Amino acid sequence: MRFLSGLFLGSLAIVVLFFSVTNGDPFVPGLMIFGDSVVDVGNNNNLYTVVKANFPPYGRDFISHKPTGRFCNGKLATDFTAEYLGFTSYPPAYLSQEAKGKNLLTGANFASGASGYYDETAHLYSAISLTQQLNYYKEYQKKVVNMIGQKRANALFSGSIHLLSAGSSDFIQNYYIDPILYGAYTSDQFSDRLMSSYSTFIQTLYGLGARRVGVTNLPPLGCLPAAITLFGRGSNQCVARLNRDAFSFNRKLNSTSESLRRLPGLKLVVFEIYQPLLDMVTKPSDNGFFESRRACCGTGTLETSLLCNSRSIGTCSNATGYVFWDGFHPSEAANEVLAGDLLQQGFDLIS
Ligand SMILES: *[C@@H]1O[C@H](CO)[C@@H](O)[C@H](O)[C@H]1NC(C)=O
Ligand SMILES: *[C@@H]1O[C@H](CO)[C@@H](O)[C@H](O)[C@H]1NC(C)=O
Repeated sequence: MRFLSGLFLGSLAIVVLFFSVTNGDPFVPGLMIFGDSVVDVGNNNNLYTVVKANFPPYGRDFISHKPTGRFCNGKLATDFTAEYLGFTSYPPAYLSQEAKGKNLLTGANFASGASGYYDETAHLYSAISLTQQLNYYKEYQKKVVNMIGQKRANALFSGSIHLLSAGSSDFIQNYYIDPILYGAYTSDQFSDRLMSSYSTFIQTLYGLGARRVGVTNLPPLGCLPAAITLFGRGSNQCVARLNRDAFSFNRKLNSTSESLRRLPGLKLVVFEIYQPLLDMVTKPSDNGFFESRRACCGTGTLETSLLCNSRSIGTCSNATGYVFWDGFHPSEAANEVLAGDLLQQGFDLIS
């Protein structure tokens, strides 16, 4: 476990790991996952979208060594999280064949690459908007109620951790590249729009019985290899403007979450992704990495989905030392470090 060496872990973390490993009994009854490509485990495989990752070399370091639709060489941060919580399987992609019967009784994954807080971002790429993800969640709840009855189902919904990862696509795959949107809103105003969707999303989730919710904040967008290529004007340094926008979004996310915590019985944790990822990028060797600018897959610039594929020239043979797998997404090794951070920050959700 790489993160153990790199990070200070509270004694509680060790207790959690110890119990989940020895007991085999998960800490929470289920895990429900919403959002974008950072957490999608294959929903986009079933859509007519160009944003897919169900071909090699995606998945080459996964347990099956096969592409699954995860935008990564191996496991996502949420896969590690599921393991740390004591689950022996990952929540199935809701649109996949596996999403049926008792597989649904420990959660499901509704996330879709290129989705975001702003429904238009998802529509642009024919991905599943957050609004539609909530509709699927309602449908999912009906199926579960039919299987185990209302009372047990309610316990599952209120006890499960609901994880949300969104916002990056709204900026990188929409706002910054659409002159009309960019002209219509300052990034501050655009963030406010996203906040209003975030607030609605959490309230709807709460209305559906969710009581334990974790949301990741924005990564340092300006350090994503694709962002450096697109917006870095030939420099190979992180794009400061994009990082400032992400930081300011994150401040709003904190304050909006603070007001949402007024909902009785709601545990809502904002997971800090920004700083840990920035640390990995600026001080790679502290976490055992040697490459934090270039992505492993392809030439490491714009390569994702369409461009990171089996014909990509120059894909690295060993992604362990790379912070980024493709132009937008962390490697499995970086995800493991992030998941260690999530674990430390998430105790409120399991206590
Ligand atoms: C958000 O809140 C967390 C926890 O209080 C804090 O560590 C973080 O710096 C805040 N982020 C911003 C951008 O204000
Ligand atoms: C991959 O690289 C890491 C260090 O970055 C090293 O520890 C590991 O042994 C390498 N794996 C293989 C299969 O070469």
